[in-house]
This record gives sequence, C-alpha cells and structure tokens, in this order.
Amino acid sequence: MTEKTALISGITGQDGSYLAEFLLEKGYRVHGIVRRSSSFNRGRIDHLTSDKNIFHQQLFLHYGDLTDSSNLNRILERTHPDEIYNLAAQSHVQVSFEIPEYSAEVDAIGTLRFLDAIRETAIVSKFYQASTSELYGKVQEIPQNENTPFSPRSPYAIAKQYAYWIVKNYREAYNLFACNGILFNHESERRGESFVTRKISINVASIILGIKDTFLLGNLDSKRDWGYAPDFIEGMWLILQHDKPDDYVLATNENHTVREFIEESFKVLGEEIFWEGKGIYEKGRLKSTGKEVIAIDSRYFRPTEVDLLLGDYSKAKEKLGWEPKIKFKDLVRIMVEYDFERIKKNNFNSDPGGI
Ligand code: NAP
Ligand code: GDD
Repeated sequence: MTEKTALISGITGQDGSYLAEFLLEKGYRVHGIVRRSSSFNRGRIDHLTSDKNIFHQQLFLHYGDLTDSSNLNRILERTHPDEIYNLAAQSHVQVSFEIPEYSAEVDAIGTLRFLDAIRETAIVSKFYQASTSELYGKVQEIPQNENTPFSPRSPYAIAKQYAYWIVKNYREAYNLFACNGILFNHESERRGESFVTRKISINVASIILGIKDTFLLGNLDSKRDWGYAPDFIEGMWLILQHDKPDDYVLATNENHTVREFIEESFKVLGEEIFWEGKGIYEKGRLKSTGKEVIAIDSRYFRPTEVDLLLGDYSKAKEKLGWEPKIKFKDLVRIMVEYDFERIKKNNFNSDPGGI
C-alpha cells in the first residue's frame, strides 16, 4: 500500500471515476475536483463517497473549474498531490463545433492554468495530461504512433493539441514531470450516453426490450480503435510510475466501423440486422421481422470528420509493460449486456429519448 496523494480533475467523468477507484484500491488518498451543477453530477462516484465504501475516508472532493485559476492554486496548496491527473475537459467532439471558444478555454487554456499553478506553487508533483487520438485527425499514416504528425479536425482536437504541446513545453522549460497519454477511444458501462458506443448499447437494448422502435445516427462508416476504459486507467497510472516523463499511445491496435458496432450489439442480444438504401436514406432493419430500427439523421454528421483511427501501442508495451486486455467483441458484450439488464431491472422506465 502506498502513502501517496493524487488529485484528479474530471473525477465525475467516465475515466475519473475508474481512476479514483483504482487509486483508492492502491492505498492513495484521492482528491477530486467537481463542478457546481444545478443537477446532481456525481452518479459515477456515488458508490465511492458512500460511508458503506471502505475507502470513503480517503476520498475528498473540492469544488473547482478549469476556467478558474485562483481555485486551482488553492486546491494544490491544500492537497499537495504527488500525482495529478488532468482528465477534465469538454470532451465531446461534435459539441466542440457548437461551443469552440469554451472548448478551447477548458481543454487548452485549462491545461496551461493547471501547469502554471504547479509552477507558481512550486509543488513537486507528476502531471498526467489526457491527450487524445483525435490529434491525428486526418491521419498521416496508419497505424498512428507517438511520431505520427498531427492533423486535428475539430475545435476539440485543436484545443487538445495546444494542451499536448504546452505539457511538452513545461516539461522541457521547467523540468516538470509532465506526460501526455495519447489515448484512443475507450468505452465502458459508464460511458457518457451521447458518445456513439453507449448511444448504441442503450438503444439496441431498448429496442430488444420493446420500449423503443427506432433510433437515429450519423456517419456509420467511420472507424475507431475502441478499447475498455478500465484497461486504459492502468496505463495512465503506469505512465506516471516510469522513471522518466514521456508521451505514450494507448490503444488496442484493432479498429471497427460504427456499423460493425451496431451489428455486434444486436448479435449479443440474439438478433441480426441488414442494411438497405444509401447515404441519408440508409436504414437498418431486423432480419427476423424486417422492422426498421435505425435511420440516418444529418444532424449527427460533423462539419469535418475523422474517418479512421488505429493506434500502435508498442512503445507503451515495451517501456511500461502495458497491454489492453479487452478487445472489441468483449467490449460490445459488456456494454450491451449491462444496459439490457439495467433497463429491464428499472421496469423498462428508462426510455433513452432522443440521444
Ligand atoms: P467525460 O466522461 O466527458 O468526463 C469529463 C470530465 O470533465 C467530467 O468530470 C466533467 O465534469 C469534467 N469537466 C468538464 N468541463 C470542466 C470544467 N470546465 N472544469 C472542471 N471539470 C470539467 O470524459 P472521459 O471519457 O472520462 O475522458 C476523460 C478525459 O480524457 C477527457 O479530457 C477527454 O477529452 C480525454 N480523452 C477521452 C477519451 C475517451 O475515449 N474516453 C480518449 C482520449 C482522450 P461533469 O461531470 O460535471 O460534466
Ligand atoms: N456521438 C455520436 N453520435 N457519434 C456518431 C453518431 C451519433 O449519433 N453517429 C455516428 N457517429 C460517429 C461520429 O461521427 C464519429 O465518427 C464516431 O461515431 C465516434 O464518435 P464519438 O463516440 O462521439 O467519439 P469521438 O471518436 O468523436 O471522440 C471520442 O474519442 C476521442 C478519442 O479518439 C471522445 O471520447 C473524445 O473525447 C476522445 O478524445
């Protein structure tokens, strides 16, 4: 067991909640930054803050926001973390086209604020930055590794590119132990409901349970390298345990289309679908009944799309001994079975509405 202290921004998100669990189990004291919200935003960490949880006295939450530097300084001075994991972000690519300035404020300048708070307070801490495969955007080579040139395609990815470089700059200029984890898509039962994998698992489960007829999607042909979030959390931690600060790709080195994710999801629940039509007129139908279950809505198309991502994680394997354990089929099964059981148990009162 360790005596270390960690600080996590974005603790209420998918990755933050798994990371908090992971670090608490290792014996860390964990501090998390939470945003004030008019509705409750701590559903993913409720089980950790409950006094029934053996670790709850080791977990401390602080109100804060990456747009407010004075509060970051205060939190650092109060908590003196050995390790900082900067996971907070406006993390939705499509939403970043709607709120580009805010996305830059949080994802780019927010990272600078954090690094500068470390410098100002002179607290000795290792810093992990949640960088992303979106940096590769219009990919310059396949697969992508740590040396592949960036070509970002959204306000989100461009903000994250600033963050990537400022992390490198503070490492070189001020000798900070600051690292980028360039993570390819990773999903789970805790994935936000507006990301495509979770949108599919919830809607497919709802269709099979008979509480929804059809749902709408955008581009079915983009390819992603999808892994399982808990595997990637271990990778984040390993990056900070290495003796030298560096940047690493974490991925599965396998990619699939959105269409394949849908097909596999129906298969998990014993159904098959077939496709009919082209472009925005394409439909997905159940093989058993011919019923339409998927249609295309151009609202979900992005102004600029990232068509293909495929990560080469050999550096992480060699230097950190990291490898993903869960691959595509198991990932789909975990997510779909989870949503199927959850919706069934909630007495079908979980209509996903328009996601
Ligand atoms: P997520 O579920 O969307 O969580 C984002 C977290 O950031 C939430 O806790 C959110 O708080 C918080 N946040 C948002 N804006 C904030 C602000 N202004 N100040 C403070 N906190 C703020 O994202 P995730 O999937 O866990 O991803 C974690 C990080 O990894 C993100 O930086 C994301 O961009 C990056 N990333 C993710 C993936 C992936 O596939 N999941 C891949 C590569 C990189 P609320 O709960 O209050 O909204
Ligand atoms: N969200 C969403 N909703 N995406 C859709 C839909 C839909 O209805 N229909 C098709 N897609 C396509 C998108 O156009 C994209 O090509 C793909 O599904 C994946 O979209 P998301 O699940 O929203 O994820 P993302 O790849 O854009 O971004 C995620 O991964 C990045 C790492 O590569 C996010 O987690 C980012 O924060 C992360 O950096």
